Amino acid sequence: MKETMLAVLKENKGRFVSGEDLSRMLRVSRTAVWKHIAGLRKEGYEIESSPRRGYRLIAVPDLLLPSEIQDGLEARILGRQIYHCLELESTNKTARELAAEGEPEGSVVLAERQTSGRGRLGRVWCSPEGGVWLSVILRPSLAPYKIQLITLMAAVAAVDATSCVTGIIPGIKWPNDLLVNGKKLAGILTEVSAEIDRVNHLILGIGVNANVSPGYFGEELRETATSLLAETGVPVDRACWVRAFLSSLEGEYLKAQVAGFSDMLSRWRHYSVTLGKDIDVKLAERTVHGKAVDINEEGALLVRTESGTETFLAGEVTLKK
Ligand code: BTN
Repeated sequence: MKETMLAVLKENKGRFVSGEDLSRMLRVSRTAVWKHIAGLRKEGYEIESSPRRGYRLIAVPDLLLPSEIQDGLEARILGRQIYHCLELESTNKTARELAAEGEPEGSVVLAERQTSGRGRLGRVWCSPEGGVWLSVILRPSLAPYKIQLITLMAAVAAVDATSCVTGIIPGIKWPNDLLVNGKKLAGILTEVSAEIDRVNHLILGIGVNANVSPGYFGEELRETATSLLAETGVPVDRACWVRAFLSSLEGEYLKAQVAGFSDMLSRWRHYSVTLGKDIDVKLAERTVHGKAVDINEEGALLVRTESGTETFLAGEVTLKK
């Protein structure tokens, strides 16, 4: 009901809609109209009211509210259910808990800020307001050793969303960092609950420094991190980014179920800034130096070293100048 009322107010943005018209259109009492208006105001919608003219939507809050994302969302499965919080420890943690309780595939968890955002390799992920901190629950019929492919797929979808919203085409550093001018814009953390031969569920977490102010990055991060705001000079429409991401991810996900991952892998190669480069791959016990030559059909990185070609499913890549 609240969503329908919001849609009517949006259609008439800047113009008054009378309480009588709203109650007639939505087939509810004037008191119910008033209650829903109060609910929308509580969420941050700025709505003017005038005793004779009715209600007028003035401004939509800069929050990743489910109603804002679902309005115009092309994806059918991803984002069907969206949980939004002002603050969470980690969207991946909340999504993991939901998934363990049976939450269906496609549900999304969003937070305006995270207090314990987590990155790959146990790192801390700084998650202030202005970013997109999002986790999706997936339940792919995929052998656990192929999970890396979903991570690569998310990186391709994040490139699509970024180029659609800003025109910037980030490069992908294997496996899943999005770089702009050599600096990190976004990262992906995939966490899996699996048995030997099958995946129960997978949490795909993505963090994008969308409208994170350049001043937020301290001296250390300033050299290595960037945001869409820093690159373009203007705030991006984060809800639009999320919609584009979910739509692209769903498209790739459904395509892979029918035709496999080869098309997605070609797109990943196209956006890669790793392939063809001299790199270091840092592992827990050693660092390998060589040239990144390709990724295989499982998404592993193939590196030509002095002693032959090695295959990596994990590791931290540094691009050499
Ligand atoms: C990386 O190290 O590059 C991966 C960063 C992933 C961060 C995202 S933000 C949303 C989700 N929740 C988390 O705690 N981490 C991921």
